[in-house]
Amino acid sequence: MAKSYKIGIIRGDGIGPEIITEALKVLDKVGTVCDIAFEYNEMLLGGFAIDATGVPFPSETKEGVNSCDAVLFGAIGGPKWDNLERHLRPESGLLALRSHMGTFANLRPAVVYDELVNASTLKAEVVQGVDIMVVRELTGGIYFGQPREYLSDRAYNTMVYTKVEVERIARVAFEIAMKRDKRVCSVDKANVLEVSQFWRDIVIEIAKEYPQVELTHMYVDNAAMQLIRNPKQFDVILTGNIFGDILSDAASMLSGSIGLLPSASTGEGVGLYEPIHGSAPDIAGMGIANPLATISSVAMMLKYALGEIEASQKIDNAIKQALKEGYRTGDIGAYDAKEICNCSKMGDVIVNLIN
Ligand code: IPM
Ligand code: MN
Repeated sequence: MAKSYKIGIIRGDGIGPEIITEALKVLDKVGTVCDIAFEYNEMLLGGFAIDATGVPFPSETKEGVNSCDAVLFGAIGGPKWDNLERHLRPESGLLALRSHMGTFANLRPAVVYDELVNASTLKAEVVQGVDIMVVRELTGGIYFGQPREYLSDRAYNTMVYTKVEVERIARVAFEIAMKRDKRVCSVDKANVLEVSQFWRDIVIEIAKEYPQVELTHMYVDNAAMQLIRNPKQFDVILTGNIFGDILSDAASMLSGSIGLLPSASTGEGVGLYEPIHGSAPDIAGMGIANPLATISSVAMMLKYALGEIEASQKIDNAIKQALKEGYRTGDIGAYDAKEICNCSKMGDVIVNLIN
C-alpha cells in the first residue's frame, strides 16, 4: 500500500494562494511518481483568517497543525491589515503559530544555481558556487522577549535568550555542519549586547561536543558586509531571530531573487515549511509570482519532515533542469531566458520535469 501523509496547508494572503497552488501540483505529481499519497488539510492564518474569524490564528488552526505530518505555508500580510492592533495583525498570527508549533530552528539555505549566476546584482565570480545554510533561532530573542510596550513617550522590546534556547539551536547548527563543510560562523553583537555575549559563551560550550567542526564568531554588522563582499567564506551561519531575519534576506539576493529561497522550521514536533519571501501584495492575483521558493520548500518538507529523500531530490532536480532549459519567472527573467513564465506555467514546467 502507498505511504500516506497528512499535510497542513496554509495558503495565506497576497501571492500565498497562487504559489501554494503550484506547490500542490508539484507535490501531487511527485506523489504519483513515487507512490506516496498526500492528504491536504487546509487551515486559515493571517489576514484571510482575520477576515473570516476576527483573529489571525484561529483555534481550528491551532488544533489542526498538531495532527499533521508537516505544514506547508504560503505567505501572510498586506496593507489591508497594517493598521490593526499589533496582536491582531497577520504577522502576530505567524509568530504565534511558530511558537505554538515549537519550531525553534529555521533553516534558510542560500544556494546559487549555476544557471542564474548572472541574475544576481553581484558579480558572477562572487556568487558562483555559494552554498550557505542560515540557521536562524525562530521562537525566542527580541521577537518574543518580555517586557515589551508602546507608551506615549517611549517604547521598548527585550532581547532575551535562555541557556536552553541557545544550546538547542547551536546543536542544530553543528549537526547540519557535520553533514556539510563542517564550519559554523556564529553571528552576534557581543561587543555591545549582554545577550550576545551569553549567546557566544554557550555556543563555545556546545562546540566542544563537535570537535570536527570549526567555529568562528562574527559581529552582525560585519557579517552583513562579508555576505556581500565574499559570501563563499560561509558554510553554516548560526544566529538569533532578528539577525537571522535580516541576514537571510541579504543572503537571498546572492541567488538572484528572494523568490527562489525556501525554508524549513523544525523543532519540537511538526515542522513548518515556507518560502522566505513575503506576500508581495503589489503583484498578488496577477499570476506572475515566482513559485520556486515554495516548490523548493516542498522539497525541504519531503526531506526533513517525511524522510522522502528520492521525492525531494526529484523536485530539486526538476527545478535545476527548468532553469537549465531557460525557463524563468519575471523576477529572474532578464538573464539567459528561453521563456518568461507566469506562476502557473512555471508550476507546469516543474510538474512535467518530474518523472
Ligand atoms: C520572515 C518574515 C517574518 C519574520 C514576518 C512576516 C513576521 O519576515 O519569515 O522572515 O520576521 O520572521
Ligand atoms: Mn523576513
